[in-house]
Amino acid sequence: MQALDGVDLTLREGRALGIVGESGSGKSTLARILVGLEEPSSGTVLFQGKPLVEALRARSAFHREVQFVFQNSLGALNPRKRIGSILHTHLQILEGGTATEVKARVREVAEAVDLPEDLLERFPHALSGGQAQRVNLARALLTHPRVIVMDEPVAALDVSVQARVLRLLRRLAETFTFTLVFITHDLAVVDYLCDEVCVMREGKVVESGSTADVLTRPHEAYTRALMDASRATSHGMPS
Ligand SMILES: Nc1ncnc2c1ncn2[C@@H]1O[C@H](COP(=O)(O)OP(=O)(O)OP(=O)(O)O)[C@@H](O)[C@H]1O
Ligand SMILES: [Mg+2]
Repeated sequence: MQALDGVDLTLREGRALGIVGESGSGKSTLARILVGLEEPSSGTVLFQGKPLVEALRARSAFHREVQFVFQNSLGALNPRKRIGSILHTHLQILEGGTATEVKARVREVAEAVDLPEDLLERFPHALSGGQAQRVNLARALLTHPRVIVMDEPVAALDVSVQARVLRLLRRLAETFTFTLVFITHDLAVVDYLCDEVCVMREGKVVESGSTADVLTRPHEAYTRALMDASRATSHGMPS
């Protein structure tokens, strides 16, 4: 089967792009291709004008510049390491720096995502889902990345926690400068966070444009159905 077919999209620097579609429409496959975890069988991904394969050769530079956050917040954290050590190691490996510099940056970013300092002493199993996802956000931000790809980062959280993390994400997008790719099945979330949207169905992009345009004048019946579905479940949105 073809998970993606003829996908053509441009990610503009400093913007937030939402990728939305029903389950199985190819969103995660696209996310994995964008961050270099999977290779497309044909076609190319350009990062800053150069093929991604070239960027990946300069491994640590690419991994500093492009970060990702996935749905399974706890699964993304090494269960044997304390949170502080997880963050410290990530930054140390990708960027180096003295112990004092690394510690200061970890503290700065932990504060930006509302992680209390005592939490850095804990192991992942002693965190709630929302806390674990804030650790993943902190880790993604440590290296001043240019792009962060998030694949359904709030989908596994219950609604009140989801609203809190979404509010935090919007604040982070204002204070840090990164380009965001935000994958979700919920158009209400796209409306809240994203400048642009790309609607996927069965591996194809069926509609794209500015979020305001697509949501006020959807061309596709499929997009309208996604809008109805998200309206019915939008109680997790920040008020
Ligand atoms: N490694 C793989 N081998 C075979 N098929 C795959 C593989 N990865 C994904 N697929 C298939 O490709 C299609 C797209 O999957 P993908 O995970 O990208 O969808 P999705 O939009 O992220 O769905 P969801 O919203 O449920 O996360 C699905 O039909 C899936 O079964
Ligand atoms: Mg997926």
